[in-house]
Amino acid sequence: MEAQFITGTGTDIGKTWLACALLRHWRTEGRRVAAFKPILSGFDARHAEASDAGQLLAALGREVSAAEVDAVAPWRFAAALSPDMAAAKEERDIDFDALVGFTRRVAGADSVSTLIEGVGGVMAPLDAMRHTVRDWIAASGLPCVLVAGSYLGSLSHTLTALEALLKVGAGVTAIVVNETPGSAVGLDVMLVSLAHHAGDVPLVAIARDSPQAGVARLAKLLC
Ligand SMILES: Nc1ncnc2c1ncn2[C@@H]1O[C@H](COP(=O)(O)OP(=O)(O)OP(=O)(O)O)[C@@H](O)[C@H]1O
Ligand SMILES: [Mg+2]
Repeated sequence: MEAQFITGTGTDIGKTWLACALLRHWRTEGRRVAAFKPILSGFDARHAEASDAGQLLAALGREVSAAEVDAVAPWRFAAALSPDMAAAKEERDIDFDALVGFTRRVAGADSVSTLIEGVGGVMAPLDAMRHTVRDWIAASGLPCVLVAGSYLGSLSHTLTALEALLKVGAGVTAIVVNETPGSAVGLDVMLVSLAHHAGDVPLVAIARDSPQAGVARLAKLLC
């Protein structure tokens, strides 16, 4: 399968949760899997297993060691801020070309089901040079999965993110609506409304109380 970039409408929307669920699903099918979180902010080495890199490594069945974290998440920052702000706090910069080069390199192998988790949402800034996550996706030439929620207001956030991706020519393989707990908006009605505006992009719903059907459907769609 072609490697997929996992992006979202914003932070905390379920990118890591979804990536881990997909990796575990594929492993039960005997597939070879790989996953990366190239930019990781809010990283504390004393709690590496709780970080996105730690969670991805656990889902891959790999050890959460310093070397493994380094291999999966080479750009790590202590502050839980957007990448540009987290890097600036440490007087560092994210070299966009190096980031794209890394992403293209690790995405290379077709025989391995590879996921690259982004950071924050589609328009999260990476540096002071006007690069955002969507530029990273487009420059890497990878198709992406857009993770959204089902909270009130998510329709606009989701369609805005979709437009932003399409504007730079990024391929969107699927939009995943990951149910927001306690939302007044039903998952089904959200999908009906989204379908009117999302063109040909497949929509996948993940229900909190029975996520496996959505995960299995997405896993198949990506292969
Ligand atoms: N479908 C789900 N079922 C159960 N828990 C979920 C689900 N989706 C997300 N979560 C939980 O919600 C929280 C936020 O999800 P997650 O860490 O995957 O977000 P994220 O988009 O990767 O955030 P970040 O921008 O920090 O990378 C986590 O505690 C995660 O386990
Ligand atoms: Mg994450």
